[in-house]
Amino acid sequence: MTVESVAIAAYLVAALLFIMSLAGLSKHETAKQGIWFGIGGMAIALVATIALALWGPHDGMSSLAVTLMFVAILIGAAIGLWRARVVQMTGMPELIALLHSFVGLAAVLVAWSGYYTVEALGDAQTEVSTDLLGIHHGEVVVGLFIGGVTFTGSIVAYLKLSAKIKSAPMMLPGKNALNIGALVVFVVLTVLFVMNPNVWILVAATVLALLLGWHLVASIGGGDMPVVVSMLNSYSGWAAAASGFLLGNNLLIVTGALVGSSGAYLSYIMCEAMNRSFISVIAGGFGIEVAPSEDTEYGEHHEITAEDTAALLADAKSVIITPGYGMAVAQAQYPVAELTRELRERGVEVRFGIHPVAGRLPGHMNVLLAEAKVPYDIVLEMDEINDDFPSTDVVLVIGANDTVNPAAEEDPASPIAGMPVLRVWEAKDVIVFKRSMAVGYAGVQNPLFFRDNTSMLFGDAKDRVEDILKAL
Ligand code: TAP
Repeated sequence: MTVESVAIAAYLVAALLFIMSLAGLSKHETAKQGIWFGIGGMAIALVATIALALWGPHDGMSSLAVTLMFVAILIGAAIGLWRARVVQMTGMPELIALLHSFVGLAAVLVAWSGYYTVEALGDAQTEVSTDLLGIHHGEVVVGLFIGGVTFTGSIVAYLKLSAKIKSAPMMLPGKNALNIGALVVFVVLTVLFVMNPNVWILVAATVLALLLGWHLVASIGGGDMPVVVSMLNSYSGWAAAASGFLLGNNLLIVTGALVGSSGAYLSYIMCEAMNRSFISVIAGGFGIEVAPSEDTEYGEHHEITAEDTAALLADAKSVIITPGYGMAVAQAQYPVAELTRELRERGVEVRFGIHPVAGRLPGHMNVLLAEAKVPYDIVLEMDEINDDFPSTDVVLVIGANDTVNPAAEEDPASPIAGMPVLRVWEAKDVIVFKRSMAVGYAGVQNPLFFRDNTSMLFGDAKDRVEDILKAL
């Protein structure tokens, strides 16, 4: 039994564990188990890869290389553990975007190293047989391209999600032509490189991929960022698979394909939920025109106190709570759960309406409410509850904004036009918990705040819900 055969068997087990991990993660009840399968698979994969590097057939690793490998693993593990421990739930998407950028960068570096270990040596000196050389040339350019797009695309997503740059779409003139042009040039460069693997062609492909990744994601507006993050997740999978081909590593190919296809499917589901065209989003906002500038007069808004809100709730028969990103920021889920218990004990029907992209990552609100022990059966999806607002007495909009914006249904010129929203304004009374009149993530004003049946309860959501509890 050689180290190689043991490693191949270990890779197979790891691949199975990754599949079981994905299956586990698809349900609330089995999610934790899914995470453990993933950790197990990754641990096996790491040990097998290190064993292969140390004792495998390519025994050319110098002691310097071995030391460097372990130092890199230790530094990476320490940073990873530290970031994962300190990250807030609300900072998760930007951390994920940043991690995707590393996968992209790794794929670019693997492609360049592929070039230096094969193409740069000249046909006579490589270990790759002449028949397969053309395929290797192709793998280098394709891996580099997917990796480059993922790298800069993920960096822009990170900058947008962490509000370090504006989330509004960048609108270069002829942006669709630029994207399509870049793809055509990439195909031409690939053909040229396969015919004659010249280093300058590779440099040109690298620059092109980096610029295209930046432009694709910069062109997409804030409201569509959830889809973009999941799409970059998919790209990072394909980038890893491309590296797997170059490195001859089957596990990387299998894992990359799993991540690539599940990310693509998740993006598709999200596009359906948000009524967005999948092709438009993956093509960098293809077909989206510049929205006219906003000069709408919205009128006056009304304010309400926590005491008056408590009085409204005490008289209500049915209440729907629609939480959003602000509930996560304020960590208001615990007093919200407490308020729910209190009202239910008084015989008020309380339910939650969850928008598919409320918060900053899929299932964000569900996780927070589960954490605060809100019963699952009163937490409903948008489609399950959207027809019940007209028969509801009070809606509490806790830190949500874009997901309850009537402009999505009523204003075709709005950047979020067409996105399904929770129709909270159809209820008798709507109370909006937020700190100011500031816009939400998509950067558009919300006419809901100025409606006659809407009252604003200003302040930190957690403090205000606690005030209501006291008043009750
Ligand atoms: P947003 O539109 O982001 O609005 C959140 C509101 O919460 C803000 O208007 C803010 O107003 C308020 N807020 C912030 N901190 C608060 C605090 N401590 N107390 C009370 N209010 C607070 O929220 P949403 O309705 O959940 O919509 C989500 C948005 O994020 C969508 O545009 C979606 O496309 C995007 N997005 C979603 C995801 C996923 S997958 N869910 C991922 C990335 C982006 P003030 O500043 O005035 O308080």
